[in-house]
Amino acid sequence: MVFAANLISCLQSARWVVVLTGAGISAESGIPTFRDAQTGYWAKYDPQELATSGAFRRNPQLVWEWYSYRRALVSQTQPNAGHLALAALAGKLPRLTVITQNVDGLHQRAGSPELIELHGNLTRVKCFDRHHPVAQWSELAGIPPICPVCGSWLRPDVVWFGENLPFDALQRATEAARRCDLFLVVGTSSLVYPAASLPMEAIQHRVAVVEINLQETPLTPYAKWVLTGKAGVVLPALLQAAFADEKEKGE
Ligand code: OAD
Repeated sequence: MVFAANLISCLQSARWVVVLTGAGISAESGIPTFRDAQTGYWAKYDPQELATSGAFRRNPQLVWEWYSYRRALVSQTQPNAGHLALAALAGKLPRLTVITQNVDGLHQRAGSPELIELHGNLTRVKCFDRHHPVAQWSELAGIPPICPVCGSWLRPDVVWFGENLPFDALQRATEAARRCDLFLVVGTSSLVYPAASLPMEAIQHRVAVVEINLQETPLTPYAKWVLTGKAGVVLPALLQAAFADEKEKGE
């Protein structure tokens, strides 16, 4: 792959790079994107109708089981070349922050050292009524399991439709978007707010934006560089183009 020379020099000289990722970066690990058709038993359900507190209140067992299915799916997958390239890029730069909308934990497993999970993580659970985290739980205690502290139901520690993002995570992400030197947007449809406002925050603060996606999104006209292709191909190639000859220079 050939990249614009000014993109490569911008990446090489950046003191702080921020990367916003969406479901597209995990697609190559075999995790269906949120807007893809679901498979098997769950195909008849619309994810947007399962991922709400109203759905959980109405049918907690169904919603819990959907997340159990997704948790099992994620546990059978591995970080792909895109996740690994971002973790490696962090080692080449003074600072790199990954902001993800994904709840699959794959950036963490790939070793990205500075990570902001905007929509939570489906491997964690919290109490439905009081929202405190619960470290130890078991489905043997019922579905959904009951909180050992207050007796309420347990729920996945993810952001559902109609809920606010964790305040601290959104604040740190906004600050990073405003203050970084380069902002990469990888595998997101740029449709879901407030995450989709982060690249626009960056642009308003004169930060150049790079978009990596298979197709155009509402962000495309505003990106300085648009790299069309799979995240698992484009990100390793970008890392290689910007930093491959460091070893030869005796780094
Ligand atoms: P979407 O499913 O909306 O979009 C996935 C994007 O990834 C699309 O733009 C695809 O073109 C792109 N894509 C697919 N495969 C790719 C690949 N291999 N390489 C690069 N790009 C690829 O997912 P998100 O934008 O992450 O929110 O969705 C955002 C949020 O909407 C999700 O976090 C979820 C959902 O509602 C909550 O659950 C709160």
